[in-house]
Amino acid sequence: MALVQLKNIKKAYGKQLALKDVSLSIPSGAFFTLLGPSGCGKTTLLRAIAGFHQHDAGDILVDGQSIGHLGANQRNVGMVFQDYAVFPHLSVFDNVAFGLVQQKVPAAAIRQRVDDMLATVQLDQHAARMPHQLSGGQQQRVGLARALVIRPKLLLMDEPLSNLDAKLRVELRRDIRALQQSFGITTVYVTHDQEEALSISDQVCVMHDGIVQQVGAPWTVYNRPANRFVAAFVGANNFIPLEWNASGAPTLLGQPMTLPDGLSITNGCACMASIRPENVLVNRPQAGDALRVDGVLRHAMFTGREMQLSVEVAGHGLIDALVAPHAAMMALQPGQNVQLLVRHDDILYFSGQNDGVLLQ
Ligand SMILES: Nc1ncnc2c1ncn2[C@@H]1O[C@H](COP(=O)(O)OP(=O)(O)OP(=O)(O)O)[C@@H](O)[C@H]1O
Ligand SMILES: [Mg+2]
Repeated sequence: MALVQLKNIKKAYGKQLALKDVSLSIPSGAFFTLLGPSGCGKTTLLRAIAGFHQHDAGDILVDGQSIGHLGANQRNVGMVFQDYAVFPHLSVFDNVAFGLVQQKVPAAAIRQRVDDMLATVQLDQHAARMPHQLSGGQQQRVGLARALVIRPKLLLMDEPLSNLDAKLRVELRRDIRALQQSFGITTVYVTHDQEEALSISDQVCVMHDGIVQQVGAPWTVYNRPANRFVAAFVGANNFIPLEWNASGAPTLLGQPMTLPDGLSITNGCACMASIRPENVLVNRPQAGDALRVDGVLRHAMFTGREMQLSVEVAGHGLIDALVAPHAAMMALQPGQNVQLLVRHDDILYFSGQNDGVLLQ
């Protein structure tokens, strides 16, 4: 069941339309992530849910009741911000206790709940410290504890990990996910980091320019992107125009293609194919029906976990491939001929050149 429903939300700052008719349904207990590039409206949407600003049109419902008229402090939401936003003059304990004091919870109950919460976020040893005596990751745990201790109906998080270093980010995102699941708390999380969104969420909502592009499970958004924008923003992709030879048959990278059964591609139309770099196999003989094309290796980069290769296919530009760094791959030198192979199932097709939708 949906806990939060957004109906036709619009918000403008002067002439700048930040949200253009956003409708969403956020299931109860879900980890729901708003993902999109800078300026696409993520924070604006989160703040509308929190009640920090009024939207221009549309309605927000929680448990079926409109909350549009309620102020931020009446909405029972916990909020965690990018810049920690802990009170610098209060100890860790008092920061976490803050919301409970405001709610006039009795002192003994406050002590118990704050102690429990500090243990949950592994800060029980640091209750007496001041924020400046904590690392960024620890400060963000204080922010999280402070938001959760009031037992909100909804947890809202705006890029809570983006000020942390890469390793800590991965660690803390695992903790956030575990906490969210153990509390069963409906969470709306904002990030522009697509890997973070895929790894942490039940559902990902991809936004662009104030418009929802797709809502789906991480697997779906990655493997069945609704349109070209999602395909390009979530993960990497090679985009290759489908071409038509003199006899009107489709070709890709100069090779004749068998288009998937049932795909409605009209002869001669301007379609775009997309292929993920990890699905471009290099020098790997494989039986069966696949796209095979020769090229010349132009760039090879070793990143530790993998090799990033760029291969020039004559007349068609560079194709990126991501391969495991086995000895044979490490030995490849720019200028060498290589063969690329792509399984037909790993090719998606989009209508139109730049703004097409997924054809299936
Ligand atoms: N107070 C404001 N006054 C005017 N324009 C604003 C204001 N706040 C946001 N905007 C504009 O509204 C659009 C959406 O902004 P928003 O902060 O929601 O983006 P975002 O997706 O959170 O981006 P980021 O990833 O950079 O945080 C942007 O074009 C932004 O410039
Ligand atoms: Mg933002």
